[in-house]
Amino acid sequence: MRLLTTVAEFRAARAQVKGSLGFVPTMGYLHQGHMELVRRARKENDTVAASIFVNPTQFGPSEDLAAYPRDFDRDRAMLEKEGCDLLFYPGAEEVYPPGFDTYIEMGRIAQPLEGVARPGHFRGVATVVAKLFNVVQPTRAYFGQKDGQQVAVVKKMVRDLDFPLEIVVVPTVREPDGLAMSSRNVYLKPLERQAATVLWRALSRARDLYERGERDAEALREEVRRVLDSEPLARTEYVSLADAETLEEVDHVTRPVMVSLVVRMGATRLIDNIILG
Ligand code: PAF
Repeated sequence: MRLLTTVAEFRAARAQVKGSLGFVPTMGYLHQGHMELVRRARKENDTVAASIFVNPTQFGPSEDLAAYPRDFDRDRAMLEKEGCDLLFYPGAEEVYPPGFDTYIEMGRIAQPLEGVARPGHFRGVATVVAKLFNVVQPTRAYFGQKDGQQVAVVKKMVRDLDFPLEIVVVPTVREPDGLAMSSRNVYLKPLERQAATVLWRALSRARDLYERGERDAEALREEVRRVLDSEPLARTEYVSLADAETLEEVDHVTRPVMVSLVVRMGATRLIDNIILG
């Protein structure tokens, strides 16, 4: 695997790639969820590239940018083992040089859900993803369904701005007890880790009801909230049942919807979702 830390170095390596290039953008501290993206990219492309960059512009002032977990040597070994060919690992000044002042402002898709809780987050995500796409020039880019609104935002940006690439969405990888894999799970204390299974129980309950014919969105939301409220350590931030493409809340499930939720477990903010229909 070749390690490239500047845009110029990556562009030179990219120029030598023949055939298709699959790209997995990450913020590092990799887990099996990321590895699944790399495996899928490996299967579907001639060459695989990944990036590791903890993007400061997608963190709010009171968020965990400084504390965000990092372990470059481990990440590098994991990517190498999975057959990644090119690793882009730029420093903050390489991505945002002095005087940087151009951002991608997403429209309505970035307003609800995480857009309310984390103002400016998707402006930072869209900007860095667009920059990475311009440098890496992938044939296909791989994203996990776990960050459901991020998937919708990136797809919309690619469509609206005519990026010549395909977005591949990979199902969420879960621990055996259902907890979605996330770099932030390391923040959970042992009791919180046990309690965190409530997210998957709540989403599974919505899926069961849907499979038994429930189509009333508010009934589904209420049932998800009820399961979450049964866990004393969980503080529910939001439960949403929204059109999977536009993220507008729905009254009835007549087309694919994303059931998404955010729960605070102590100091940790956990996010998860499933698609119904
Ligand atoms: O999902 C992530 O890890 C990040 O939001 C991404 C897509 C790498 C952009 O910084």
